[in-house]
Amino acid sequence: MSLLVVGSVNADLTVQAPRIPAPGETVLGGDVRVSPGGKGANQAVAAALAGAPVTFCGAAGHDAFREIALRGLTRAGVDLARLHTLDAPTGLALITVAPGGENAITVASGANAHLTPAQLPGDLGGFTHLLLQGELPPEVTREAARRAHAAGLTVLHNAAPARTPDPALLAHTHHLIVNEHELAAFAAGRAGPDREAQVRALLGRGPGAVTVTLGARGSLTATPDATFRLPAFPVTPLDTTGAGDTFCGVLAAGLVAGQPLADALHAAGVAGALACTRPGAQDAMPTRAEIRAALTGG
Ligand code: RIB
Ligand code: NA
Repeated sequence: MSLLVVGSVNADLTVQAPRIPAPGETVLGGDVRVSPGGKGANQAVAAALAGAPVTFCGAAGHDAFREIALRGLTRAGVDLARLHTLDAPTGLALITVAPGGENAITVASGANAHLTPAQLPGDLGGFTHLLLQGELPPEVTREAARRAHAAGLTVLHNAAPARTPDPALLAHTHHLIVNEHELAAFAAGRAGPDREAQVRALLGRGPGAVTVTLGARGSLTATPDATFRLPAFPVTPLDTTGAGDTFCGVLAAGLVAGQPLADALHAAGVAGALACTRPGAQDAMPTRAEIRAALTGG
């Protein structure tokens, strides 16, 4: 049982500021924090810290940001044999974090945008699950899902950041994870304002499970025959960067380990909340022991 993550890897440059700047505004913030990020790498690290065997497939450059971008993956023991080094800058994210933990992120994709379908692993033997996000060229993500589906893997897809939904990708997705903005992008014109109806409408378009993460209100998951409403684990958020990624990685790790869906969702929610209590994305992610302690109230 092992997880393949095909996704982005960035170096994150984060500044805590009194507020997210408005268009045209300059805001003076604190010291810059340089840390590993990228939704793909974040999710790979979250899954590995939660105990899953993880392989990451993506692309970085050979510049000064490479080492920072790869630091978390290396530290968490993620297999990097499928990482491509391209003649392009390593992905970089410019992040502003406001008091209360809310953020605004601009991504300079760099090498992530130059990965091609030909660079995907040809042999998926040994992998049971594939985890995807939306920070690679759409044709790469779609092809990864198509191949994994054909090879019998379970495909988890976190449709972040929000963009126009890809019906072909949805058709190859077993478990779709979205936040409320992304759900709105999928639901546009298709279902009424009722959130559960919007989630259920997506079940007809490919996935056998759809999860919407609701921040401080927990998460809602629908399958054809059940609905799971998980309350949020209460924390005081300091930096929400990577909270959604932590949720997805830990959910995937639970499913890879054969946990029932409700248990995997519960652990994912707790882990995502814990990740909001510390600065950074990967640097904030809980270990398996920390997740277990929070789950048991210890
Ligand atoms: O989801 C958070 C991530 O989005 C950051 O780590 C940043 O690199 C961007 O990809
Ligand atoms: Na964080």
